[in-house]
Amino acid sequence: MWAILCSILIFCSVNAEEFSRNKFEILSGVRQTKDEKSMWDTKYSHDQYVFGKTPAKFLAANFDYIPAGANVLDMGMGEGRNAVFLARKGYKVVGIDISSVAVRKARALAQEFGVRIDTVVASMTDYKIPDASYDAIICFYYVERSLHEKMMKWLRPGGILIYEAHTENQLKVPGNEHYSQKYLLHPGELLGLFPTLKVLKYEEPLHQKEYTTSIILQKSR
Ligand SMILES: C[S@@+](CC[C@H](N)C(=O)[O-])C[C@H]1O[C@@H](n2cnc3c(N)ncnc32)[C@H](O)[C@@H]1O
Repeated sequence: MWAILCSILIFCSVNAEEFSRNKFEILSGVRQTKDEKSMWDTKYSHDQYVFGKTPAKFLAANFDYIPAGANVLDMGMGEGRNAVFLARKGYKVVGIDISSVAVRKARALAQEFGVRIDTVVASMTDYKIPDASYDAIICFYYVERSLHEKMMKWLRPGGILIYEAHTENQLKVPGNEHYSQKYLLHPGELLGLFPTLKVLKYEEPLHQKEYTTSIILQKSR
């Protein structure tokens, strides 16, 4: 009898924990114990575009650093707001994301605007990309430090990298206290992350609602 009671108690507490973990992840986007793909699939699993359909401001203001007609890799593309924007500007865009739900929404967005993007559902950390494959790479709010060395190699000589992320100061913004450290850069860190590339532009605004850090770099010819 005692053993049955214990089993029921354990069952209930595991399910309560599962419920609160799912709720936490959906609200915060922060991974707890589930794998990365399921976490992002869940986050994207409603009709709304979580990050909107308009491109990141830094990209909209600076996309013309990328030569016209260039082939561009969008790492951690999400629902395609940046990839579709670049496709509309005439670039050939490949977007890679671990979430099949995000990629489906990105393709729908491209269709909505009557443009083509190429998409891949894969983890950037496993997907093989030959050196010197891209004229440009964009990476918005997908921080994976283990890829930085490779990103410099994936660019062709003269290639452009546009990268933006939040800094740890974002944790001070109410509601963001549980944001995963993994997706955040230290203030000033971005300037030193791609040492073989030349910095063309760098911004790290101090007093914004969002604490972002943004950079444009170029590989030598
Ligand atoms: C904060 S979102 C940013 C999405 C998009 N770049 C944007 O700015 O709208 C981070 C994205 O990275 C993707 N992601 C996370 N881990 C990944 C991985 N290992 N490989 C590819 N994509 C990944 C997620 O699915 C998610 O779409």
